[in-house]
Amino acid sequence: MTNETSYGMFQSEPESPANGNSEAAPFSCPVSQTAQSFQPFSKIYLQDPYKFFKAARGVEPVFYSPEYNYWVVLKYEDIAAVYRDPETYSPVNARHPVTPICPAAARIRDQQNLAIEPSLVDEPSETHKHHRKIFGTAFTPRRVNQMNDRIRAIVDRYIDRFINDGRAELVSQLLYEVPALAIFLFLGASDEDAVFVKKLGSDRAIVNWGTPTETEQIAMMHGMGEHWKFTKDLVDRAIKKPGDNYLGDMARIHHDDPSLFTVNYLYNVMFLMQFAGHETTTQASANGIRHLLSDRAQWELLCAQPDLIENAVEEILRIDSSIFGWRRITTRETTLGGVDIPKGARILMMMGSGNHDEAVFPNGSKFDATRKNAKKHLGLGLGAHFCMGAPLARLEMRIILEQLTLRLPQIQLVDNQPWEYLPTLVFRGVQKLQVEWKVR
Ligand code: HEM
Repeated sequence: MTNETSYGMFQSEPESPANGNSEAAPFSCPVSQTAQSFQPFSKIYLQDPYKFFKAARGVEPVFYSPEYNYWVVLKYEDIAAVYRDPETYSPVNARHPVTPICPAAARIRDQQNLAIEPSLVDEPSETHKHHRKIFGTAFTPRRVNQMNDRIRAIVDRYIDRFINDGRAELVSQLLYEVPALAIFLFLGASDEDAVFVKKLGSDRAIVNWGTPTETEQIAMMHGMGEHWKFTKDLVDRAIKKPGDNYLGDMARIHHDDPSLFTVNYLYNVMFLMQFAGHETTTQASANGIRHLLSDRAQWELLCAQPDLIENAVEEILRIDSSIFGWRRITTRETTLGGVDIPKGARILMMMGSGNHDEAVFPNGSKFDATRKNAKKHLGLGLGAHFCMGAPLARLEMRIILEQLTLRLPQIQLVDNQPWEYLPTLVFRGVQKLQVEWKVR
């Protein structure tokens, strides 16, 4: 592979014209106070971006940051408007590296035979509509419901391992592996593979959406080669012998009508789903449990009324989703929230801000498991590209909470623990969650 345009998410220059997106010339007006205080990789922001969002939403809900070359969008209605118009706000840059890939990592990439192409999340409207119909229709409630007992059994197995210890670090001991195992069952791969791919997933979040060092970029590129080969083998095996799972369904659809999508496209969607399908759920669950245990009354409410858990999952995705920002690029001049935006402008929608917007969610920074419109959140996106895995993510999060509230209602946060977040522009998840309880 030598053609730069094929690299998509692994391209060297973010939004380079070679990828069909002419980048808007940097804006030259005086930098606003809001833009100056937008420091998305600073410790203070990562600890509590909602503070910045609230202040900025009040004074400049759409602002341009020359430092990062993004038009940052903070109000619910403006973010929804971007999501609803993928023709004007194209998703083709959704996975572009935030920090350009360094030459040494690019050299390794060039040796890996990665045949990356836009797939669903970063596909332009014309082809996205066609592909989403096929891949989304096959993501049936039957396939998702089939997972119910199996996910519950996995969660219980993990809780069994620490229930008599009186303390646990929930991310590494429960939340890290369970969603990886679930997506792998869904796709028909083995447990050992799940753990291997999971590690690559965390590296990918930093390298694609963060500020990785050159050493991290190089290590991740080596990993990508392995992961790509693993994905190809998984798909090739499914094509030869389709299993009773989602990937098996896609292999059968391809067998019946190969003109619907290419095998390379199937490699790409499976490559995407292995990442999209677990890192996100791990981090959203961790954020949610942190919120619930910090607000004891809410936790106890769920223990007493488990039927509220379904809505509590939506409230988690509203108050602190694992994807709290997402990107688009304009295909023409436009106006958003009264601000004129040029063609080729890079848009950063902060759903984490929209999800706290008081115009839609009164008392928005308060967790409320009974909130009537919690499901209106933007934590899973909106519109044509709305998260395809949403039913599976919701099921996993619900089961994790059901089993924890049932089996460990007395669980509490260890006092004064530090909260660490990965420095990325769009992902948000507490990295460690120390809890304790009295063993009876
Ligand atoms: C809590 C967990 C999750 C969160 C917060 C999340 C969030 C998102 C977001 C924000 C988008 C982009 C939406 C847009 O551009 O409009 C998305 C797309 C997507 N997600 Fe998820 N996701 C989660 C879990 C999953 C799971 C479990 C899977 C797979 C089984 C999955 C598969 C996908 C796919 C394939 C897309 C692309 C859809 C398209 O562009 O048509 N996600 N997700």
